[in-house]
Parts: sequence; C-alpha cells; structure tokens
Amino acid sequence: MSESIKNLNHNLVPDNLDSYWMPFTPNRQFKENPRFIVSARGMHYFDSNDHKILDGSAGLWCVNAGHYREEINTAVQEQLSSLDFAHSFNSGHPHAFNFANRLVQHFPDPLNHVFFTNSGSESVDTSLKIALAYQKAIGQGSRQRLVGREKGYHGMGFGGVSVGGLVKNRAAFGMLLPGTDHIRHTLDIERNAFSKGLPPHGAELADDLQRLVELHGAETIAAVIVEPVAGAGGVILPPQGYLERLREICTENGILLIFDEVITGFGRLGATCAAERFGVIPDIMTTAKGITNATIPMGAVFVSETVYQAFMAAEDPGVELSHGYTYSGHPVACAAGNATLDIFEKEGLFTRGASLQDYWNSAAMSLRGTANVIDVRCYALMGAIEFSSRPGAVGQRGADIGKKAYELGLWCRNIGDSIVLSPPLTITESEIDDIFSIIQAAAKAAG
Ligand SMILES: Cc1ncc(COP(=O)(O)O)c(C=O)c1O
Repeated sequence: MSESIKNLNHNLVPDNLDSYWMPFTPNRQFKENPRFIVSARGMHYFDSNDHKILDGSAGLWCVNAGHYREEINTAVQEQLSSLDFAHSFNSGHPHAFNFANRLVQHFPDPLNHVFFTNSGSESVDTSLKIALAYQKAIGQGSRQRLVGREKGYHGMGFGGVSVGGLVKNRAAFGMLLPGTDHIRHTLDIERNAFSKGLPPHGAELADDLQRLVELHGAETIAAVIVEPVAGAGGVILPPQGYLERLREICTENGILLIFDEVITGFGRLGATCAAERFGVIPDIMTTAKGITNATIPMGAVFVSETVYQAFMAAEDPGVELSHGYTYSGHPVACAAGNATLDIFEKEGLFTRGASLQDYWNSAAMSLRGTANVIDVRCYALMGAIEFSSRPGAVGQRGADIGKKAYELGLWCRNIGDSIVLSPPLTITESEIDDIFSIIQAAAKAAG
C-alpha cells in the first residue's frame, strides 16, 4: 500500500451502528458483521483492515474515470471558493449553461437540451413528467399511460418504481402510479447463452409494445422507457434488432421513446451513450452517475429538439415546465462534471470500452466451463457471469461468490446468482485478468 494511503485516517470505524438506516441493505446482517470502506485510489478501494480491493463495479456503475481524480477534486475546491451555491429558479449562474453546452456536443443529435437533476431517480421521474407534459403541449393530452419493461430498474421515485419491473422493488409500495404497463423482458438464456456481442434471438420481443398499443390504444400511451442494456436486472443485452424495432413502433404510434442511460450514459458501452453505440436515438434520455464521476450527485435529462421546442412554443410566456429541484444545475456539481468531461476528452474514455471490448469479452468467456456457470453476458466494459441457483436457495450462490471475491480482493456485486461487473474505464488488461481469475477462484471456493 502506498504511503499516501497509509497516512489517511483509517480510524473511522464507528462504535454505534444503530442510527443509520442503510439503503438496499439487510441492516441487521450487515451490522452483525460490518465492513467499512475508508479510502479509494484509481482502481482500488481500501477497507478499515487495510485490505486492498480491486473495484470491479466502478462504485455502483458510476466511478467511470477511476477513484480520486485530482482534476475533479481541484475543480470542486476551486468552485467552492468562488460560488458555493446559487439556485436556477428564474436565476442563473454560468456553470450550468457552460456544462450543458459541453454535454450536448458529446451526446447525439437531436438530443440538444439538458434538464439537470441530482440523481438517476430524479432523472427518470423528470423524463416521465416531460413526456406527459409534452403530449399535453402538443394536444395529445389523452396520452397518459407510461410503459416500462419487466426486469427494468429506473430508480426509486414513485414514477421510476411504477415503470420499473423488478418485483421486489415494487411489492411493498401499494398501487404505485395508475395507468402504467410493462412489455416483456428480453433475457433468454436458453436461446442466447454465451452470445458474443448482442444476442441473436429476441428482436420480436419489441412487438410486445405493439400488443400494448392494440390493447390500450396508441392514443393513451405517452411514452415507453427502457434501459438499452438493463443493469440492475442482471446485465441484459438488447437482442440484435430489438431497439430498432422499438424505435419504429414508437415513431409509428406517436409514443415517445425514453432511454434510461443512468448506467450506460457515460462511456460504459464504448461510446458516449448506448444510443450512439447502437445507432438508435430516443426522444428523451436520462443520465446521472458517471456524469460527475460520482464525486458530487448529479443527473441530466437530454431531450430532442422537437420535445424542447414544443415547450418553447407555448403561447403563455411564463414557466414552460413547472418542475425542478433546488439543486438542479448545482455549481459545484457542474464543476465536477466539467472536470470529468476534461478527463474523458483527454484520456479518450468515452471509447475506451470499445477498444477493450474484445479483451474483456475473451477474459469473461474464459469462465465458460467453470462449475455452475450457465451464461456470460458482456458488452464493452459491462458484464455478468450467471451461475445456476442452488435448489431452494436462489441468490445464495451469487451472494457467497461475491463475499468470497471480496476476501480475495475484488469488489463486485451479485444480483441474484449473477455476478455483475462494470469496472472503471481506466482498467488495464492485467486488471481484467485479475477480475476473472478472482471470480473463478471465488466460485470454486463457494461451491
Ligand atoms: C438504469 C437506472 N436508472 C435509474 C437509477 C437510479 O439512480 P439513483 O440511484 O442515482 O437514483 C439507476 C441506479 O442504479 C439505474 O441503474
């Protein structure tokens, strides 16, 4: 361990764990056997036992440029020393405008306007509200239905949960938003296991949207939201031709297509965003996470020229969209975002995932044949190794492998019996080898 890490204060371990209610955590289990991350540098975390752990998850799909980027730290400090905060409600500071201008240069046309939020969940709810308000603005107010997809994850706002398709995330929260529906998911291990690149089978699943058009009437549907690659559902890649077909059905039926690119929207798939990589452009796109390299919370919703101009054409010269957050376009987040963009531009990080794709893919596929591995799904620097479930104990094998991998020095998440991966884009080939050899050893040990 480097001296600079050794000198950090690791003496942070709290003696009382009771007050903090941890998110998405079995609190009682964690507090029985806690582990604390106390510092991070580059590709690694360090825990309170001075254990060095390779970050196979880029935090939570977000630290895409690697940890502790001095350029971002400095930009944040400098921003704090000039303007700590100014809101953007009928007021302005230059940083939000400048950052938006820079962002739209990277994202595909015609997604040329940006609404800032503070998280992926806020980006999703913002995108759904924009979709509803757009339809109303163009005289299509009967379009109030929002369509999501099974196994989709769109954050934890009521809108996002309502269009989300992960049963556990919905079960405790009552009726959710009325008028939502879901198309079928595209995971098909039987037909597509171990596909190289996008899976060959399943484009026809997009026709499920046509089914909903016939069921409800196109004139009731405002928008459909999908993750181009589903992340939290277990890294589910779009079948070849699927996104194109979805785009077609939306266009034919006046339905807005929203891509939730909170995970895929900042270099994860070897391009600025999945829309660019797959050549299918939505009307609205959500982003967050990697936009500031996760240093300061921020999200951004991109909208097409058509969507934006529908609001700007309103006869009433007042507020065009009664929506926003105190911290929309926070100057410190913009500073972090600008510094993140500098790094991406200088180091070619938007496309690094494409150049490492073949290496990543072969390393991942080397696990084919390892006991209990039933599928490997990967694209650019995103991936999942799916293990068969133990009888009567779905998710236990995945959890055991994740735990063992941590002991062996790899931070990765299990989603059920899948180990999902999304390392910082700064990863080297030898670190890629390390990831998969640790997973192999962990799988062997977990049995
Ligand atoms: C596709 C997608 N949308 C939305 C979100 C929610 O983001 P946040 O946790 O920042 O609210 C996530 C988080 O993982 C996500 O993966």
